[in-house]
Amino acid sequence: MKVDLIFSANEIQSKDAKDKTVVVIDTLRASSTIITALARGCRKVIPVSEIKVARRLSGKFKGNSLLAGERQGTKIEGFDLGNSPRDYISKKVRDKVIILTTTNGTKCFEPLTEAKKILVASLLNIEQVSTELKSKKEVLFCCAGVVGQFALDDFITAGKILAELITEVEVNLSDRALVAYQTYVQNENNIVTILKRSKSGKNLIELGKEDDIDYIVKEQENYLPYYEDGEIK
Ligand code: MLT
Repeated sequence: MKVDLIFSANEIQSKDAKDKTVVVIDTLRASSTIITALARGCRKVIPVSEIKVARRLSGKFKGNSLLAGERQGTKIEGFDLGNSPRDYISKKVRDKVIILTTTNGTKCFEPLTEAKKILVASLLNIEQVSTELKSKKEVLFCCAGVVGQFALDDFITAGKILAELITEVEVNLSDRALVAYQTYVQNENNIVTILKRSKSGKNLIELGKEDDIDYIVKEQENYLPYYEDGEIK
């Protein structure tokens, strides 16, 4: 298996994903929110880049949708949910269509037009995503990053998936993927601590959302979302 990695949503170009299995990662927190929402029974998540597009789209679902997302980490005014995965409880999200707009994570999907398959991963579903990837020939990790910059939470997640794969299949890693793997291996006993020291981690702590980091690192959700035709199921 050949594995490459992209550092941030701004870097993604459709040709880089051509015929590859792409894994979109925004561990803190968009991909963790998507995984949790689907694991709690929502019908689908529609990722959109702009707030106004999200509002327009919600009108189409006649009360069966929830508007969700953040800017600067905080729930958008008038929206039903923010981007805190722990708020996505079954009672709120079951059978709903969730229209989600976030600063970085939801921007990853649109440019991936040439990908063979698009999966959504975070530390919450390492086992499910690793199992699915084992039979693939070419894999591209699309880390969302933070406003165009590298983000440690996404990188460590890619490294952890690689650590699972390496024990079972032969992998040919790009230099970026190799460093992701090494970074994970060197920190595997301190993931909570290192993520709390990362830029995204510190932002969440400042916003009073430290519990989101603990949940995302310590829990597992039995769900592997797929993106197709503008929707995640
Ligand atoms: C994003 O998509 O930028 C993040 O998920 C931000 C956040 O943690 O809410």
